[in-house]
Amino acid sequence: MLKHSVMGRKASCRPSIAYRPIRPSDLGILEQLHADLFPIRYESEFFYNVVNRRDIVSWGAVDRKRPNGQSDELIGFVTVKIVLARESEIDDLIRRDSARSEHTLVYILTLGVVEAYRNFGIASALIREVTRYARSIPTCRAVYLHVISYNTPAIYLYKKMSFDCVRRLYGFYLIDGRDYDAYLFVYYVNGGRSPCSPLEIAIGVVNYLKTGFKSVAGRIWRYDDRKPWRSTKCKESYELLTTHSNRNLAVDQGATEFQCV
Ligand SMILES: CC(C)(COP(=O)(O)OP(=O)(O)OC[C@H]1O[C@@H](n2cnc3c(N)ncnc32)[C@H](O)[C@@H]1OP(=O)(O)O)[C@@H](O)C(=O)NCCC(=O)NCCS
Repeated sequence: MLKHSVMGRKASCRPSIAYRPIRPSDLGILEQLHADLFPIRYESEFFYNVVNRRDIVSWGAVDRKRPNGQSDELIGFVTVKIVLARESEIDDLIRRDSARSEHTLVYILTLGVVEAYRNFGIASALIREVTRYARSIPTCRAVYLHVISYNTPAIYLYKKMSFDCVRRLYGFYLIDGRDYDAYLFVYYVNGGRSPCSPLEIAIGVVNYLKTGFKSVAGRIWRYDDRKPWRSTKCKESYELLTTHSNRNLAVDQGATEFQCV
């Protein structure tokens, strides 16, 4: 039903998007959207927890102008959970202070927008809800998430929303018997950014020297058509800050961890 009504067609007129919490009546559509948008199968318990707000916080997007009684039907969603920083995989990236043991993080579990409503800024608005929420929690130091390495639109989106790409996790996802890498993105809040490590300082110095060298060389050689050398923090991080994760997600066995893909 959803596929015919929303997935394939562009929203006909300019939509009027509203954001609201996800509630029990959204259960069916939420399950359907996850099945349509993600290569991972989520267990019923996950959806039950989302709609009943059991350890999961969520926001939904609806198009108030949508006809045929669908003006309150979800066309986008984001789900998150709060985790303790010290129990997370990014504890080393969070600034240390005396109250460190209480630090929390907001982890984005799933984010999606139906195809017909993409590129209207809905996912960006949902992410802003999440970062606002994270900022409102005094103990929270960052929002983070995983994204599968081939998901270009999502990677562009997180970069645009000022998330830092901090790690490449090799073989993080196991989908249909195949390994896929993931990127780990972090958005710091409430002063959570860790001070520069010696490695980061070294990377910065190397980048600075490289940039300086290119600019001098460019002036000497007058290669007018050469593109300026670009330093991508994300790319550097992939190569220099790689870690391996054992948390593969076996789809066939049902997902017990819920990662953004
Ligand atoms: C990723 C997704 C959530 C984006 O939703 P959306 O509502 O279209 O996102 P927005 O309109 O807020 O997009 C804004 C930015 O996303 C990026 N983006 C969106 N579509 C893109 C594409 N096809 N190629 C490259 N970048 C893209 C751009 O940076 C864009 O900014 P710009 O328009 O200023 O260039 C949506 O494509 C989706 O649901 N995909 C399937 C599920 C999924 O992959 N979820 C993320 C899991 S981590």
